[in-house]
Amino acid sequence: MVEQSIWMQKVAADPGHSTWYIERFRAMARAGDDLAGEARLVDAMVSRGARILDAGCGSGRVGGALAEAGHDVVGVDVDPALIEAAEQDHPGPRWMVGDLAELDLAARGVTTPFDAIVCAGNVMAFLAPSTRREVLKRFRAHLAPGGRAAIGFGAGRDYEFGDFFADAAAAGLEPDLLLSTWDLRPFTDDSSFLVALLRPA
Ligand SMILES: C[S@@+](CC[C@H](N)C(=O)[O-])C[C@H]1O[C@@H](n2cnc3c(N)ncnc32)[C@H](O)[C@@H]1O
Repeated sequence: MVEQSIWMQKVAADPGHSTWYIERFRAMARAGDDLAGEARLVDAMVSRGARILDAGCGSGRVGGALAEAGHDVVGVDVDPALIEAAEQDHPGPRWMVGDLAELDLAARGVTTPFDAIVCAGNVMAFLAPSTRREVLKRFRAHLAPGGRAAIGFGAGRDYEFGDFFADAAAAGLEPDLLLSTWDLRPFTDDSSFLVALLRPA
């Protein structure tokens, strides 16, 4: 057993948390908000019909958009309520309940590695801190040759960017490109958000 994710600790403390989150994104979708910015970046990183893992997929907005763009998407999230919402709102991808710290998709019948892994929406900051490095190792293990991971999270969430880079290096991942937004602004020392495109070292 791994340490419980911060997200599931929140759910345990507030059983309405998942429903609140699901409804928040449904309301934004109804309002016509742009919920596919991360997916557009990842779509530009890969060939057509690529294999993409949406790691910490939540209710499926990123993986759903990538599937609509023609990619073969698997989404994994630790929160069963969010996976149920992803199945309802974004049919097509394979949505699976699981903790990223225990990610072993081959053991669950998903044997083809991924051209890209997308980990959007501050997932890294919702992991149990003791599992961060292990999650990055598992990302590395699920990448196809030439594959890359796109990981985005904000500053001020108790996971310093420097610690993240150290964890990534220990996991065998190195920066391919560092951005501060999903619409391709460069990362600087002052950036309050990081979008790290990582490749196997
Ligand atoms: C803010 S949501 C972002 C969801 C989605 N990536 C998006 O951007 O719409 C954070 C997500 O991280 C997931 N998460 C946190 N820790 C996790 C873990 N250890 N394994 C899998 N998912 C995790 C939560 O369940 C939640 O869905």
